[in-house]
Amino acid sequence: MPYLSPALNVMVAAARKAGRALIRDFGELENLQISKKGPADFVSTADSRTERILIEELTRARPGYGFLVEEGGAIEGRDKTHRFIIDPIDGTTNFLHGIPQFSISIALEREGQLVSALIFNPVTDEMYLAEKGHGAYLNDRRLRVAARQHLSDILVASGAPFLGKDGRDVFLTELNGVIASTAGMRRFGSAALDLAWVAAGRFDAFWERNLKPWDIAAGILIVREAGGVVSDMDGRESMMDCGHILAANDALHRPLLDLLRGKS
Ligand code: IPD
Ligand code: CA
Ligand code: CA
Repeated sequence: MPYLSPALNVMVAAARKAGRALIRDFGELENLQISKKGPADFVSTADSRTERILIEELTRARPGYGFLVEEGGAIEGRDKTHRFIIDPIDGTTNFLHGIPQFSISIALEREGQLVSALIFNPVTDEMYLAEKGHGAYLNDRRLRVAARQHLSDILVASGAPFLGKDGRDVFLTELNGVIASTAGMRRFGSAALDLAWVAAGRFDAFWERNLKPWDIAAGILIVREAGGVVSDMDGRESMMDCGHILAANDALHRPLLDLLRGKS
C-alpha cells in the first residue's frame, strides 16, 4: 500500500472529486462531437471547473497554501512555504477528441522542494502517487522504472510542438536521432501521463521541450521515487524553470542526453 501523508490524502480526495465531474464531462463530449458548434468551449469550461473544484477542495483542507495553476496562474497564500502546482486537465486535445489519455496533475512543494505528487487518469482509474522518500505507486502497486540498458531496445515518448508552439526544428532533429537508434517512439499527448508511464516502466524514457511547471511537477517526483533520473536537456535540474525535460533510468539517461544533443 502507498504511504499517504496527510497532505497526499487531501490531494487524493480532491482529485477523486474533480475526476468524477471530468468523467461526466467526457461522457457528454460524445454528444458534442457531432454538434456544429463543436466541443471546444465546453472543454475550456470543463478545464476551469476542474481547476475550481481542486482549488476549493485543497483550500478547505489546507487554508493558506499557495497555488500555481494553469488557468489562474500564481495565487499567493499566507503560508509562503507550501504551494500546490496543478494542471486540471493535462492532455486537453485528447479530451477534446474523446481520447481517454488525459490526467489531473497535482504536486505539492514545501520550501521549494517537491514532496507529494499525484497524476490521475479518471477514465482508466489509474492513480499515480509519490511521497518524497516513500516510493511511487500506481494504485496499490509499487513502481519501478524499466531496467532496459540498450538504446536499441527502448520505447521513448515525447511531445511534438504544434501550431503556435516554438521548437519544431529542434524537435525534428532530436526525433530523427531517436527514431534512428531506438525500438520505437510514441506521442500520446499528456506529458504528465508520459512521465507516470516512465515511472511504471511502460516507457523507457520521455523527453520534451518548452513545457510548463504544471505539466511536469508531479511527474518529476513520481519518476524519481520510482528510481528514475530526471534532468533538463543540459543534465541540470532546472526543468521547472526552462521547461525542458528528460526522464529515464540511470543507465539510459546519459546516452539519451548525448543522442538528443547529437553527440553520439
Ligand atoms: C499539453 C500536454 C502535451 C504536451 C503539451 C502540453 P495541456 O498540456 O502535456 O502532452 O505535448 O506541450 O501543453 O495543454 O493538454 O494541458
Ligand atoms: Ca498541460
Ligand atoms: Ca492543461
